[in-house]
Amino acid sequence: MEVVRLGNDVLRDHAVPVEEINDEIRSLVEEMFDTMVKSDGIGLAAPQIGRSIRLFVVRADDGVKRVFINPQIIATSQEMCSYEEGCLSIPKYYDDVIRPERVTVQARNENGRRFTLEADGLLARVIQHEYDHLEGILFIDRIAPEKKAKVEEKFRKKAAKETV
Ligand code: NI
Repeated sequence: MEVVRLGNDVLRDHAVPVEEINDEIRSLVEEMFDTMVKSDGIGLAAPQIGRSIRLFVVRADDGVKRVFINPQIIATSQEMCSYEEGCLSIPKYYDDVIRPERVTVQARNENGRRFTLEADGLLARVIQHEYDHLEGILFIDRIAPEKKAKVEEKFRKKAAKETV
């Protein structure tokens, strides 16, 4: 599976809900975990592999593989914190992003079971980053506009080179 990069329109789409959690979705989830681990990532959202559906996978520092299908962030803490983020779709760029410290998320897993999770630390961070992907939002949208413009320009040039 190839991870799509900044500049690909699919990253900017508002992803649609998963209608049925079936074997196709379960094998997609497995492939996404494989791709994520191979790329040294800790989270991967379906739009990043070219599927504009509301699904992401996470494996944060506790090592637990978590699947979020049709997730909803139902609460966020007032306390904010800064953390350096990166994204498999924006390789080799890292920057500090301020987000709520804790989140509560509701979703279904790959078996269709609904769950509610209260997360803090790195897990809360990854969940928010991946959730953003489903809304067509990238972490560079949350940094200074002039820095974002530079990153976008760099990737535009790279993409132009690759298509020549
Ligand atoms: Ni990302």
